[in-house]
Amino acid sequence: MSLLRRKSVEQSIRDTEQPEHQLRKELSAVDLTVFGVGVIIGTGLFVLTGVAANQTAGPAVALSFVVAGIACSLAALCYAEFASTVPVAGSAYTYSYAALGELIAWIIGWDLILEFVLAGATVAVGWSQYFAVLLETLGVTLPAAVAGKGGPFNLPATLIVLVLTAVLVAGIKISSRVNAVVVTIKLAVVLFVIAAGLFFVKGDNYVPFVPPTEPASGGSGTDGTLLQTIFGQGLANFGISGIFAAAALVFFAYIGFDVVATAAEETRVPQRDLPRGILGSLAICTALYVAVSLVVVGMQNYTEVDTTAPLAAAFQAVGQPFFANLITVGALAGLTTVVMIMMLGQTRVAFAMSRDGLLPRWLSRVHPRFGTPHRSTIAVGLLVAALAGFIPLQELAELVNIGTLFAFALVAAAVILLRHTRPDLPRGFRVPGGPVIPALTMVACVVLMLFLTVETWLRFLAWTVLGLLVYFLYSRRHSRLAKGA
Ligand code: ALA
Repeated sequence: MSLLRRKSVEQSIRDTEQPEHQLRKELSAVDLTVFGVGVIIGTGLFVLTGVAANQTAGPAVALSFVVAGIACSLAALCYAEFASTVPVAGSAYTYSYAALGELIAWIIGWDLILEFVLAGATVAVGWSQYFAVLLETLGVTLPAAVAGKGGPFNLPATLIVLVLTAVLVAGIKISSRVNAVVVTIKLAVVLFVIAAGLFFVKGDNYVPFVPPTEPASGGSGTDGTLLQTIFGQGLANFGISGIFAAAALVFFAYIGFDVVATAAEETRVPQRDLPRGILGSLAICTALYVAVSLVVVGMQNYTEVDTTAPLAAAFQAVGQPFFANLITVGALAGLTTVVMIMMLGQTRVAFAMSRDGLLPRWLSRVHPRFGTPHRSTIAVGLLVAALAGFIPLQELAELVNIGTLFAFALVAAAVILLRHTRPDLPRGFRVPGGPVIPALTMVACVVLMLFLTVETWLRFLAWTVLGLLVYFLYSRRHSRLAKGA
């Protein structure tokens, strides 16, 4: 058996046509854009803006959003080409199965699990931080042991995940309708922050725009970025490298456009609608992130920006508690859909992987009444709930980012490769400029990865090794391709 065995694109498409493993085709380009904006804007904006401004980049966090946005736009173009060529469920995983062979597809799928499961958990933790603000306003105090604020267990984050799991099992149509309403609320809140926040911006807060590099206190040997460690620099924040380190963190804010691609199998005309949905939602989000971050660091000095619920806290700080409450409620609604769609993306990947036999086959069976892959949904829900309950937000987010950046780099490589191996396939969307953009995508992803901490790299390596063990001990032998099925 060759290590590079691969499934043909035609086989991938045929697989989606088996009735008991088939999802309904009912989404349009507008549905996809709503779906995209619904999932992209979340904890990255509502929480990590504050973390990045306060700890790593200062007011220049807006530039970090631009840097991360550029990397994502490049990757989005590659995604759009792939998604419009191989319109089947499973995102980068499915595409790479056809282009790069089973092993690489497995690694990508394994990284997507990291992306979606951990991102679902990260956003649930962000949700719990805004929930804590709401409870405080209502005068309710949770016991410290279950409140999640530095305590051992985060009960609100766990509960929200379990509730959303139930909603997902009930079916995608309900979920996307609920999503449309909530996306509207979330966008309204974001626009409100920008418009109302402008009245409280003070020019002094933008000086210095790029704070000078300063040594970071505390931290262990693995807390520095990989780049700092390679060059033997001590742990330091701010300055130009701080902008990039913050970009590697706020990259999280863009995660989700690839989830749009995971809905390919449920899209009416994927060749046309997917690129529109992916690129459209990404463009909207980039503009909003830059605007919100400029407003937040203009309202408060970056040293005072809150790191748990910064958008609400900024309005508290300028003496506008009513506005802060409004933002809190909107953020809670908005973050709810993000958790839900992250889990939805993951269940679709798990669905595709199990249909291929790389994960147990029983996971991919569709519920006869709801038409959803209920088993993988429940399995994922329990996992996300457990992670959200026990792991801190920033650690989760960085691990999500490294796995996603790696998967994006592989996707970009796959675009180039598939053009050589299958030039005949119709491509609804083609990245312009030959191999230049896919090559730049790979460079951009690797550069951002270098700005993540050594600790994150070690965790990622451990995850990869675990993935390879699972592949060689289970998946490789159970693969439908291996069995010639
Ligand atoms: N991009 C999503 C968020 O920021 C995952 O929450």
